[in-house]
Amino acid sequence: MWRRINSAARKGTGPGRGDPSAERSGARQAVIAVSNVSKAYAAGFKALKNVNLDIRRGEIFALLGPNGAGKTTLISIVCGIVNATEGNVLVDGHDIVADYRAARQLIGLVPQELTTDAFESVWATVSFSRGLFGKSANPAHIEKVLKDLSLWDKKDSKVMTLSGGMKRRLLIAKALSHEPNILFLDEPTAGVDVNLRRDMWQLVRSLREAGVTIILTTHYIDEAEEMADRIGVISKGEIILVEDKIELMQKLGKKHLTLQLQHPLVELPAALAAYDLQLANGGTELTYTYDTQSERTGIVPLLDRLSDAGIVFKDLQTTQSSLEDIFVSLVKDAP
Ligand SMILES: Nc1ncnc2c1ncn2[C@@H]1O[C@H](COP(=O)(O)OP(=O)(O)O)[C@@H](O)[C@H]1O
Ligand SMILES: [Mg+2]
Repeated sequence: MWRRINSAARKGTGPGRGDPSAERSGARQAVIAVSNVSKAYAAGFKALKNVNLDIRRGEIFALLGPNGAGKTTLISIVCGIVNATEGNVLVDGHDIVADYRAARQLIGLVPQELTTDAFESVWATVSFSRGLFGKSANPAHIEKVLKDLSLWDKKDSKVMTLSGGMKRRLLIAKALSHEPNILFLDEPTAGVDVNLRRDMWQLVRSLREAGVTIILTTHYIDEAEEMADRIGVISKGEIILVEDKIELMQKLGKKHLTLQLQHPLVELPAALAAYDLQLANGGTELTYTYDTQSERTGIVPLLDRLSDAGIVFKDLQTTQSSLEDIFVSLVKDAP
């Protein structure tokens, strides 16, 4: 559905999309390179501390962090809205300061805050955005963007008459008006309803299929878990981790085995002290936590020990820790 929109992106400076080997190496190539970037705001507050980050061509990268971590500041620097105090950023090889126009033209930004020109029509707003990038008018492209975002029947409506969800889609239309091949979405689903959230995710996936690199910020862990190829965690202005999502979940994931006991226990028998066990629910539940990476889970000997200690269980389940658990433990341990 989005394929045609980004034909320009695919003809761009990157490797040919049709060639699988070029595609593979292209996926490894940084389309954005952030080097040693720090930001001190006027009052001296350090919002970013020596950030280094490479975004790979064609990936969906989720920048995950709590409010105030520095996500919007980092995006604003890459998009040239905020100046870095130190460091530099290359966008497809173009320095964002020395070669601002070339760098900025490659980027679409969907900002966190809804700011839209209330009296203009949807069509005029999106067309104007394109003009800002010095691109010649392309009504066919604008039409396609509005249709893909289900805004076509609103093209003549004034922005002020749109619902909140439509305004958010309009921001995306504006960001796509100049056919960028990199799209930043700053908290795209903060405060939106479940349906719009699903639509956004779908849209992001189809853009990626069309060859667009997507960087989204979120403080919703499930969003990163659902969408991202790679995840960067930012906390207090520092990138504390960048990992492939699946590897991250495997590496840091823990599993829990929960046993529902036939008879409640007041305390854990000393014979079981060697195991990472916890009693819950008034002693009726016993939870064993183990590493998903280790060769042996220890479950079989544990069950033997339980049996030896006369502990009988009615039922058992295993659960795996979510990205949320991992995230909470990472941010908690951050300096
Ligand atoms: N213009 C500004 N002046 C001073 N401090 C700012 C400014 N913008 C953001 N900050 C501060 O920088 C930190 C990071 O903010 P921000 O990048 O918006 O975080 P996030 O997007 O992760 O919530 C916060 O502590 C915020 O208060
Ligand atoms: Mg923000």
